[in-house]
Amino acid sequence: MENKCPVKFQNVDFCAPSTHDNPYEMYDYFLEHEPIRFDETNEVWEVFRYDDIVTIERDAETFINGEGVRPNIPPDPGMIYQDGEQHNKQRALVSSGFTPRQMRKMEDRAHEIVVDLVDKMLAKDEVDIVTDLAGALPARLIADMLDIPEEKRPAVLNWINLIIAGGCGPEYVTDEVNDAFSNFCEHHEEMYQDRIAAGCTGSDLLTIWINAEINGEKLDESQLLFEHVLLNVGGAETTRSAIAGGLERLSNDQKQYDALYDDPSLIPNAVEEILRWVCPFVNMYRTATRDYELHGKVIKEGQQVGLTYPAANRDPRKFEDPHTFNIFRDFSKEAKHLSFGLGPHFCLGSSLARLEIRQSLEEMTQRVKRIRGVEGKPPVYVSSSFVRGLSSYPAILEPR
Ligand code: HEM
Repeated sequence: MENKCPVKFQNVDFCAPSTHDNPYEMYDYFLEHEPIRFDETNEVWEVFRYDDIVTIERDAETFINGEGVRPNIPPDPGMIYQDGEQHNKQRALVSSGFTPRQMRKMEDRAHEIVVDLVDKMLAKDEVDIVTDLAGALPARLIADMLDIPEEKRPAVLNWINLIIAGGCGPEYVTDEVNDAFSNFCEHHEEMYQDRIAAGCTGSDLLTIWINAEINGEKLDESQLLFEHVLLNVGGAETTRSAIAGGLERLSNDQKQYDALYDDPSLIPNAVEEILRWVCPFVNMYRTATRDYELHGKVIKEGQQVGLTYPAANRDPRKFEDPHTFNIFRDFSKEAKHLSFGLGPHFCLGSSLARLEIRQSLEEMTQRVKRIRGVEGKPPVYVSSSFVRGLSSYPAILEPR
């Protein structure tokens, strides 16, 4: 039966940041009636269903990263833009910064940071959950891992936010975004030269990457720069969005919040539900290496296709009652969320992100009885077709 598309969902510009503000009615329409859509404005395809995204992510020969993972934006030398052997090599070199020993160090440091942030919040009458906790934790952790001087940290964060805004599509790569990128490059070069001058003897992440060597292969200077960018883009705002979005949701559901206090062993499952629910990345793109038919439409060789993760995480074919936030959800009977992607490019920082969200939940639920929004100061969301989430969440904390 021919489906008549409601006017509001005809000619959707999927790169426009506002398209993904409160998008679930639109995603529901596409999930049900039009699982693949050609976006005429940006000349890219978009897919929505869980199984379609899984199929595409797993078929890395047909759907490659090497032509770009953002819509109509060319690739750079970072690992996310590599395929096959080159990707494996680069990912292995970068992974030398994420060994079990490094992870234990980060876990301890994350715990210290969370305790300090919650101490400071409890001393205030009113807090902003985003700036005081959710954004501060990943930003400080990454800056510590890289050993960035304290005074440079706010500027780095600001450049990264601008670079992320540019990830929505070419028309969002403004002069301000280009300036932010140039500033980040200068900052990287300074860090790089400092480490070379110090004989690469430190234990920070950039030094680990400079020293990393597998079978005689090393990361070259441009790869180092773009892995550095990727770490910041992939690691800071996404985790911020998950922690803030999770706490905001829980603050409106005291029963589920209290359940985490009564039984902290529920927290790891709650972390997965938060990731499913918030889903910070709106999408990643792939390029078809051959014509590929999906639901009667043909993705032509050379065309890009966007994988709409937040839609897949609410696909009723996979998740029971998908629009209900439920920390008790049984993922083993339903499906794993796709917030970290899948296949060869599955998020390298997933363990780190999970531990940051878990530690935030543990500390908050144990020390804060109730999180209340502030009257007249509603939460503020960032509009984005790349990384979505809260930019401000004013709240009053009731201590235990
Ligand atoms: C809640 C937080 C996070 C979310 C939702 C997230 C999500 C993602 C997604 C969707 C991808 C692409 C996967 C694909 O194409 O199949 C990705 C890749 C990546 N992420 Fe994350 N990420 C998060 C945190 C982090 C952190 C903390 C780091 C590092 C410290 C990180 C580093 C990376 C890297 C390096 C890649 C590229 C991997 C590759 O190309 O092989 N991410 N992430």
